[in-house]
Amino acid sequence: MPYRFVGYAIVSADGMLAAADGVMPPTLKFPGDQRFFEAGLDASDLIVHGRNSQESQPRSPQRRRLILTHAVIKPTRDPTNSQATLWNPAHAPFEEAGAVAGMRDGTVAPIGGTNIFDMFLDRYDTFWLSQAPHVQLPGGVPVFHGVPTRSPQQTLTAHGMHAGARRLLDPAADVGVVEWTRG
Ligand SMILES: NC(=O)c1ccc[n+]([C@@H]2O[C@H](COP(=O)([O-])OP(=O)(O)OC[C@H]3O[C@@H](n4cnc5c(N)ncnc54)[C@H](OP(=O)(O)O)[C@@H]3O)[C@@H](O)[C@H]2O)c1
Repeated sequence: MPYRFVGYAIVSADGMLAAADGVMPPTLKFPGDQRFFEAGLDASDLIVHGRNSQESQPRSPQRRRLILTHAVIKPTRDPTNSQATLWNPAHAPFEEAGAVAGMRDGTVAPIGGTNIFDMFLDRYDTFWLSQAPHVQLPGGVPVFHGVPTRSPQQTLTAHGMHAGARRLLDPAADVGVVEWTRG
């Protein structure tokens, strides 16, 4: 396997990654989860995200990334960011975009939004699903299409993934992360 796919998301109790206005609210941001997410990205070789989902961390400028956009046909190096490649998956497979980004193997971290999380459902080796059980975002942006009719956990299970133990990231807010693996 040339690539290893490791996804990261934090969702509300009802499976949303952002509120109804399309923005991730402060109520879904927790220091313990943000440290976990940052360490995960530090250990990744390539990040994949939609145009609105770039993380904002001290080492973000150094990270190699694929940014999904309809603005290109062929995978194209981003003229405004030497670490970024613009990718339209309707016109090129992931492997082609990865090659343009200079990455033919290594750990790939899809980090959202919904279309991007969906796109890799059959390819994740691991999906780290953090959840804030006391935050509700009705009518928000779901982590996967079909949520909340089907929970994120049901979606991962339907795609052949299995839950590991829950690890507490923010005890005060009862925010934890579960490692979902394939096998
Ligand atoms: N809680 C979490 O873990 C988490 C994770 C990720 C994001 N978020 C938040 O959730 C919100 C998500 O924003 P969003 O829904 O706008 O999602 P997004 O996926 O970050 O951005 C959407 C844009 O990405 C491009 N795109 C997406 N799918 C594409 C496809 N199949 N082909 C080509 N281009 C594609 C399009 O760009 P063009 O318009 O250029 O074509 C589209 O307008 C943000 O507030 C973000 O901060 C939260």
